[in-house]
Amino acid sequence: MASGQLSRAEALACSGCRHACHVMLYCDTKSQLFGRLPIRHIILMQMRFDGLLGFPGGFVKPLEETLEAGLSRELLEELGVALPISVEDHADSCYAPASSHSSSSPSSRLITHFYVKKMEEEQIREVERAAASTATDHGQEVLGMVRVPLYTTKGGGGLAAFLSHSFIGNARLQLADSLLRLNLVAPEELHKALTHSLKIHT
Ligand code: GTP
Ligand code: MN
Ligand code: MN
Ligand code: MN
Ligand code: MN
Ligand code: MN
Repeated sequence: MASGQLSRAEALACSGCRHACHVMLYCDTKSQLFGRLPIRHIILMQMRFDGLLGFPGGFVKPLEETLEAGLSRELLEELGVALPISVEDHADSCYAPASSHSSSSPSSRLITHFYVKKMEEEQIREVERAAASTATDHGQEVLGMVRVPLYTTKGGGGLAAFLSHSFIGNARLQLADSLLRLNLVAPEELHKALTHSLKIHT
């Protein structure tokens, strides 16, 4: 796992830190692409206003709300559905990589908390419908929800091409770690896709 890893309790002890929570919503599916390529799992990410891919969620205010309540509030804004998130859905917390436009002073360091929630396929489809219709952030902070292709096509497209896009913060790592940990993609397939993704734009 990445360095800078913290437990949920250690992370919350940093009261001067800013906190953000994001979640990977996913389900199993029996559907197939072109009637023959198993899709296996639907994983939801989003195209953000800044053109980067990321997970739904956002900044929370630990003085006013729990991490999980704050994440639910963000999901209502970005997805248009009030999804309950519980402490058991927490996967990890870590310091965000220092970025050029955020202050590097320790008092304002950003801690990102990551959650994973498995749902039923019909619930995931309902989230997609709401995100494109009733969500207040639709077309503003969120340009659209996208599914992560887990397969590899004959031409080498699919997961590798998806991973070659630009991601916010360490969302790419959060995705890869989750695929591995939840056994959604075989380790050797993921390794191949990660390696190939680095060569796609060069
Ligand atoms: P505002 O309402 O505009 O403040 O946005 P927001 O509350 O929805 O916050 P956002 O989702 O942009 O997340 C806050 C910060 O967390 C971002 O500025 C990024 O630095 C970071 N971030 C955003 N998405 C992700 C993600 O998917 N993974 C990780 N690790 N960090 C993210
Ligand atoms: Mn938001
Ligand atoms: Mn957000
Ligand atoms: Mn917000
Ligand atoms: Mn907002
Ligand atoms: Mn599986």
